[in-house]
Amino acid sequence: MARMNIEPFRIKAVEPIRFTTPEERERALETAGYNVFMLRAEDVMIDLLTDSGTGAMSAAQWGALMQGDESYAGSRSFFRFRDVVQELTGYKHIIPAHQGRAAERILFHTALEPGEIVLNNIHFDTTRANIEVEEAEARDMVIREGWMPEVVHPFKGNMDLMALEETLRSAGDRVRMVMLTITNNSGGGQPVSLENIRAVSRICKEHGKLFFLDACRFAENAWFIKEREAGQKQRTPKSIAQEVFSLADGCTFSAKKDGLSNIGGFLAMNDDHLAEKCRNLLILTEGFPTYGGLAGYDMEAIARGLEEVLDETYLRYRIESVRYLAEKVANSGVPIVQPPGGHAVYIDAGRMLPHIAPLEFPGIALVNALYLAGGIRAVEIGSVMFGLHPDGSEEPAGMELVRLAIPRRLYTQSHLDYVADVVAGVGGQRSELHGYRIVAGPRVLRHFTAQFEPMHVAASR
Ligand code: F0G
Repeated sequence: MARMNIEPFRIKAVEPIRFTTPEERERALETAGYNVFMLRAEDVMIDLLTDSGTGAMSAAQWGALMQGDESYAGSRSFFRFRDVVQELTGYKHIIPAHQGRAAERILFHTALEPGEIVLNNIHFDTTRANIEVEEAEARDMVIREGWMPEVVHPFKGNMDLMALEETLRSAGDRVRMVMLTITNNSGGGQPVSLENIRAVSRICKEHGKLFFLDACRFAENAWFIKEREAGQKQRTPKSIAQEVFSLADGCTFSAKKDGLSNIGGFLAMNDDHLAEKCRNLLILTEGFPTYGGLAGYDMEAIARGLEEVLDETYLRYRIESVRYLAEKVANSGVPIVQPPGGHAVYIDAGRMLPHIAPLEFPGIALVNALYLAGGIRAVEIGSVMFGLHPDGSEEPAGMELVRLAIPRRLYTQSHLDYVADVVAGVGGQRSELHGYRIVAGPRVLRHFTAQFEPMHVAASR
């Protein structure tokens, strides 16, 4: 029988991709200060910058948009959104927000005092920044394997439980909350096992600590649990996800990932007092609690997206398509984080380009080479993103990764074949790649706007 590994959808509307020449790309990249965040998207052929807000909505979601109730207060779309989120998560308070980082800002600004600590497997960049801006500390506690790109482990996003217990014993009074990022984006999109989530939950209860999920990719995480964890095969992704949410006290959520929507998010929790304080801040910065910065139609799209994302046929295709690209890239001799994660292939640029020092940014060298070679836009997750500390000091990040994030339902297998060919081509010329230096950039979240200069240009002056 033919393998059913085809895309489980057909295409109702298409958008043209503008093919560019190497010369056009050379000019565009120079104008962008060698930072692909500063490119015009029209100059990109295959955009793998992020899987966030970039996916294709279904016909049912587009249809749902027309059902949006744009009432300022008490919108019908809010109640539909709230009911879907509540049924999935079980949390008492559902607070809409315009995207994940808005939920983070509201939670951390409300809950954190200067000097307090938040523990997480690995904080995503906006999560870390929103903690540090409160003068609190974001401490990463993923298992050792989570920092070793080539080591295969089924749940590399797991929290190091010994380190967690030890920290709660020695610095417990400063720890305000514990989080788990599912899947662990900054560590390669790696899942966290149900067993690990259960243990973190139990430890937090024993120590009386709040436990929150950064649940952006909860459905992909649930699929990995179903596939890889003993005793979970027979369960539906939804039932696994529901158990995962039930183990925590709340979550932040960006609907731009597993909400299958272009914008949106929420903050959810059980604590009445904390929720009330969060809602007060929400009104100040996002909007009234029944829209939180979203249009009524956005809430309709998210409600529908949260149902579609748990479909088994979709999730199987989703994880398979990432694995398909990962295998092709790895087979061409380019080192990647193994096993591949749920939403992206992470190239180990540190290992691929050992001749480029970490603070000459091998990740940027690779990202720019992929753009020049094939109009592919990827993102550095390394020393540009994480190397600069709040005190102004700079040191290499734990890993130098380049992420090829796959938008949901957007590209076909032939697009991924093209990506694999371009990566293989760049891989064959890796010794010719050179480093970069930063010529201008902000102190916080510098990767978005920093301007670079190729080292060989700097050297020839
Ligand atoms: N947490 C995680 C794990 C994320 O991956 C993101 C966003 C956020 C929080 C913030 O959500 O963008 O809606 O404000 N990640 C995107 C990415 C930007 O490219 O990985 P947001």
